[in-house]
Amino acid sequence: MSDHDIRLTVNGRVREGRAEARTTLVDFLRETLGLTGSHVGCEHGVCGACTVLLDGRPVRSCLIYAVQAEGHEITTVEGLEGPDGAISPLQDAFWDNHAMQCGYCTPGMLIAAQALLDRNSDPTEDDIRDAIGGNLCRCTGYQQIVEAVHNAAARLRDGAQ
Ligand code: FES
Ligand code: FES
Repeated sequence: MSDHDIRLTVNGRVREGRAEARTTLVDFLRETLGLTGSHVGCEHGVCGACTVLLDGRPVRSCLIYAVQAEGHEITTVEGLEGPDGAISPLQDAFWDNHAMQCGYCTPGMLIAAQALLDRNSDPTEDDIRDAIGGNLCRCTGYQQIVEAVHNAAARLRDGAQ
């Protein structure tokens, strides 16, 4: 199978690499670009562990071929940190609210939650549950995750960066 040159923007940086046509975006991010924050769970679009933003919208990166991301903007969990490497208010709220246990779902949860906060600065509990409804967590029971997103929204409204 032939390889393809792929050029895309990841976390604000233009990145290039080669991949077979069958290579998924999550494998390209992890194995070619070394961004291992996006996790691979089910590999067929069910668990949400591989969620990234594509042009600002959350997508399952196990269901997209890397070649389809050519020319697009991708944000992975590594892109949530500030320019100085500090964790974001959302990540900090996850920490403070004990919104993770094993952490396997956490990158996808963070990205799904970030997508919500990017379009809604004051989400209701229903909004939050809807936004993370496609992301499975085996550990937390979800309540702490919902509380963390609620808390992050309040911090952001108060000017946290
Ligand atoms: S690994 Fe992509 S949705 Fe589960
Ligand atoms: S913290 Fe373990 S799967 Fe969510």
